[in-house]
Amino acid sequence: MAGLKVLFATSEAAPLIKTGGLGDVSGALPAALRAIGVDVRVLMPGYRRVIGQLVKVKTVASFDNLPGFPSARLLSGWMAHGIPFLILDCPSLYQREGGPYQDAKGHDWADNPLRFGLLSKIAAVLGSGASPLAWHPDLVHCNDWQTGLAPAYLRLEQGGAPSVITIHNMAFQGNFPPATVQELHLPPSCFGVDGVEFYGHMSFLKAGLFYADHITTVSPNYAKEIQRAELGFGMQGLLAARSGNLTGILNSIDTDEWNPATDVYLVKKFSAARMAGKAANKESLQGRLGLNIAPDVPLLGVISRFTHQKGLDLLLEIMPRLVGLPVQLAVLGSGEAQMQRSAQGLSHRYPGEVGVNIGFSETLSHQIEAGADIFIMPSRFEPCGLNQLYSQRYGTPPVVHATGGLVDSVVDCTAETLKDGTASGFVFKGMTAENLFTAIRRAVYLYHDRRKWKALRRNCMAKDFSWKSSAEAYRAVYLKVLGR
Ligand code: ADP
Ligand code: GLC
Repeated sequence: MAGLKVLFATSEAAPLIKTGGLGDVSGALPAALRAIGVDVRVLMPGYRRVIGQLVKVKTVASFDNLPGFPSARLLSGWMAHGIPFLILDCPSLYQREGGPYQDAKGHDWADNPLRFGLLSKIAAVLGSGASPLAWHPDLVHCNDWQTGLAPAYLRLEQGGAPSVITIHNMAFQGNFPPATVQELHLPPSCFGVDGVEFYGHMSFLKAGLFYADHITTVSPNYAKEIQRAELGFGMQGLLAARSGNLTGILNSIDTDEWNPATDVYLVKKFSAARMAGKAANKESLQGRLGLNIAPDVPLLGVISRFTHQKGLDLLLEIMPRLVGLPVQLAVLGSGEAQMQRSAQGLSHRYPGEVGVNIGFSETLSHQIEAGADIFIMPSRFEPCGLNQLYSQRYGTPPVVHATGGLVDSVVDCTAETLKDGTASGFVFKGMTAENLFTAIRRAVYLYHDRRKWKALRRNCMAKDFSWKSSAEAYRAVYLKVLGR
């Protein structure tokens, strides 16, 4: 074990910058790996506001002559919780108003191939004999398409370390015109089936899946699903061919950040042993979202990106029937304009019963997990999903579609699973509005059976979601790749 050094390359890491679950994982997994003795350093772009959040920042290298790329510097710095970061500082590429991948209007940055080509390239340089640093990683761990070219550069550079790529979502592939191969100074010969080519495009994700020594994804069930046409997004053949080097490792959660007993965003803290505080959070959430103060009406919670993936269109469709049960709904999210309009439309149609907040708010997301009674996550596909984990920890049983990591992390509530203490939510098969409605109605009925509901909440809150065992599984993958 001694001296296992890993460069963890990512395009976002909480709490520095986060657009979704990749940020949570990149914030928490490196810490968990360090806790079991792996020397991990995180490489990430120097977006606006990131550098100011680090301490002991200094320049450790400059890159002025990388063909095809602008000059860049590498800074080292530390996060408050003791994680060493390497920040790729290239203001012309990363210091902009807007998000990591898109401008303020939600359009992808036109130079994303260059922005994430450089990130991948630097990850590869740091993992090769050409690295300017004294610290040489044994292995480079990439995440999603944004660092997917690193395994390609590593394979094509002399003395490159082995690499692992983790798939957080097959739907995002980083596919660009073929000319990108020359622009990023990859050898023309790699533009083929056995290389970076994917249906006539050059694909960052395909490159990662083809060249990495090992592939992981964020749940065992999703690892199986992506080898089939339905959820393989065109890459199922490659993934099936590489199944011997494909491992599903279920995500965990940062149990300090997401702990109802210590959560600073809550009006009242609570725990499995002292649940009284949950009611105060419900009342406060109802007040904040303009809902009627109704302690006994089940409050459904949603925190989500508004995209087709998340299946919220089905929830919005059945909302008129749901309010009649009755239930209330608290929604936090942003994304596709049409979905934002429908959600807002419902809040106007059912004032006091449907509350919608369009935006991104860390505070409100914690308050919804704590204040809601039932969490709704009808994803069409879900590599892992984190909100269903947070909601269980906050005693808010989730209603989920039977897909991806939702299957691996939620046990459907039946007479049997309630009795044996494993029930932790409501799982529906078949992605239809009717099936979602039936599952929510099951949850609402159980909510009104106080004794059973308490038992269900207790099961949820007793589950172990800490990163330790997932971190150990990643370490086992690293050791396998290194042949140790
Ligand atoms: P995905 O990464 O596909 O969006 P996950 O469930 O893995 O889905 O992770 C989503 C993460 O982003 C969670 O931490 C969730 O709380 C957070 N999140 C999503 N939308 C918002 C929002 N509007 N405001 C605050 N946090 C959000
Ligand atoms: C992606 C997936 C989500 C997963 C997250 C972290 O954003 O959509 O299911 O939990 O990555 O791995």
